[in-house]
Amino acid sequence: MPAEIHNTMRPRALVTGAAGGLGREVAIQLARRGCAVAIADINGEGLVETALQIRDIGAETETITGDFTREGAPEEAVEKVLARWGGIDILVNNAGYGVIEPFLDATFKAWTRTLALNVTALAMACKAAGRVMREQRSGRIVNITSPGSRMALPDYTAYTASKAGVDSITRAAAVALAPYGVLVNSLAPGMMDTEMQRSTEADLARANGRNDLQAFLDERTRRIPLGRRAEISEVAEAVVWLCLDSPDYMTAERLNMSGGLDKD
Ligand SMILES: NC(=O)c1ccc[n+]([C@@H]2O[C@H](COP(=O)([O-])OP(=O)(O)OC[C@H]3O[C@@H](n4cnc5c(N)ncnc54)[C@H](O)[C@@H]3O)[C@@H](O)[C@H]2O)c1
Repeated sequence: MPAEIHNTMRPRALVTGAAGGLGREVAIQLARRGCAVAIADINGEGLVETALQIRDIGAETETITGDFTREGAPEEAVEKVLARWGGIDILVNNAGYGVIEPFLDATFKAWTRTLALNVTALAMACKAAGRVMREQRSGRIVNITSPGSRMALPDYTAYTASKAGVDSITRAAAVALAPYGVLVNSLAPGMMDTEMQRSTEADLARANGRNDLQAFLDERTRRIPLGRRAEISEVAEAVVWLCLDSPDYMTAERLNMSGGLDKD
């Protein structure tokens, strides 16, 4: 176990967007590894299910329900973790939003909502957890980005621009927190069949005038060099590795888990 986490018998983690998909799986895997895990999401019902699964493992959990784009919400979530466990060792910024919208039909609403969650709330969460980690002289932050952050996707530009923002925040936060031994990295998942991915690809097919959804999905899968979509569990394993196991000298890194779709 790396030095940052050594001094904590039971690392204390906050995972955002943990009501389902990748966030739920990360929260469960962290709990299996002995972490106390706070889970945040706008979807209260999904959080209840995640909390049940964490308690089944025998781990402690704290549920934080609400819209992370509300001013102050990310800071309050970190405060709740502090109030419950006295510190925070791991932050996984996983909550994400995106909507298919052709570039020339861009709306203020879609751009504002996307950037508010993927960029502003993520930055505020990094700041709030980073301040505590600075005092602790330890901690790890993992931001979930996307291969899209480096692609030209004219039907999904607000999302890809927001994920380029995630990459930028990761680099800045890593440098800001490096003097205190706090590590900040990001991970770019490939195509995972989560709720978000399913509805996004259905909308993308419609925007492209395709009504043969399965054929459209198969074509997209064939573009992945490894020839298959990512399992949520294998992507979560890589997130957990960054949270608990990656070397102490690794910060400001963007880890690819996209089957070769994104290339460094
Ligand atoms: N699924 C993929 O193929 C894929 C690919 C690349 C990146 N990602 C990224 O992975 C992360 C997880 O996505 P997922 O695929 O598990 O999707 P998901 O929809 O299952 O998870 C996103 C979670 O964020 C929550 N959320 C949305 N708006 C919120 C808000 N305002 N406040 C609080 N919570 C909010 C949702 O309720 C949901 O539980 C996202 O950051 C996404 O951009 C996913």
